[in-house]
Amino acid sequence: MNNIKAAITGIEAYLPEYVLTNDELSRMVDTSDEWIMQRVGIKERRIQKGEGLATSDMGAEAAKRLFAKIGISPDDIELVIVATATPDMFFPSTSCIIADKAGIKNAWAFDVSAACSGFLYSLQTASQFIETGRYKKILLITAEKMSAITNYTDRTTCPLFGDAAVAMLLEPNTEDLGVIDHIFQSDGSGRHHLYLKAGGTFKPSSYETIDNGEHYVHQEGQTVFKAAVSRMADVSVAMMEKHNITPEELAWLVPHQANLRIIEATGRRMGLSKEKVMINIERYGNTTSATIPLCLWEWEKELKKGDKLILSAFGGGFTWGSLYMKWAYNS
Ligand code: UT7
Repeated sequence: MNNIKAAITGIEAYLPEYVLTNDELSRMVDTSDEWIMQRVGIKERRIQKGEGLATSDMGAEAAKRLFAKIGISPDDIELVIVATATPDMFFPSTSCIIADKAGIKNAWAFDVSAACSGFLYSLQTASQFIETGRYKKILLITAEKMSAITNYTDRTTCPLFGDAAVAMLLEPNTEDLGVIDHIFQSDGSGRHHLYLKAGGTFKPSSYETIDNGEHYVHQEGQTVFKAAVSRMADVSVAMMEKHNITPEELAWLVPHQANLRIIEATGRRMGLSKEKVMINIERYGNTTSATIPLCLWEWEKELKKGDKLILSAFGGGFTWGSLYMKWAYNS
């Protein structure tokens, strides 16, 4: 059996400075802090402001901060993988742009598109390059400028999303630490419930699509909620059973941060006490592929070598899954 596993060996984030609060949103649309806190659990989110700034700028900044933090050179990176649902443009890939902006010269680069499951899918993809033994240093980035596709006149979606980027280094580990297993699924029939209606090849942008606001996120909240709440828990419980992990043994559930009620329901189904569930939705909202890495970054100092983690997400596609990893270092 292959004894090389892929481990996260460093993590750093970039959060835009601008804080969009529920109070400010309440002046933009017919909503309230009380409704948003009760139904979703978000207090504020970060927004990237500034002419000409894009997803790649946040990703490149996160990468540069990571290089400085762990003391490696951009020249050491062999492969750049970027998970994003909000690329700078159709093509080239955001990964190529980030590599250029972060001074990465010796790597090839590609994007992974799996909406809110983007981190899990890209982490698993990156892991397999490491497990072959051929790759030693992969830069994995999750970066989202959700504010660019959010309609700030639609109260059903505008409180939900925020902008952020997280950069991680993946390296081989031979101590049985790192990514252990994944249970992933997708169901494209869910595409009608959470998507961008226009701007792609199915319905290219036109004056009409712009007038109709079809370049903004469309979500049928309740339908997505019902699917998310059962499926995220199903795969997380399945992972515990597959590896005989008891709630006591599991150090952390690291869930996608779309709705506090979904997070709490998942934790309950897994039999976990609240203290074992990472939650920061209140401060950043739903940053799509960046939510889980943002948690890992914020909890980095508390994480201990060997800690058993289950990462779990559900999102557009539909895509969903759970990933089991053992944390690889003490910081
Ligand atoms: O990350 C990718 C996956 N996404 C998810 O997992 C998100 C899943 N869905 C959700 O989290 C929730 O469905 C939402 C947070 C999006 C919505 O919460 P909800 O409890 O499902 O609300 P609802 O859509 O059923 O709306 C209930 C009421 C409606 O009013 P009426 O028809 O009952 O009069 C809405 O118009 O709440 C109203 N409403 C609002 N009221 C104040 C919807 N948005 C707002 C708002 N402020 N921002």
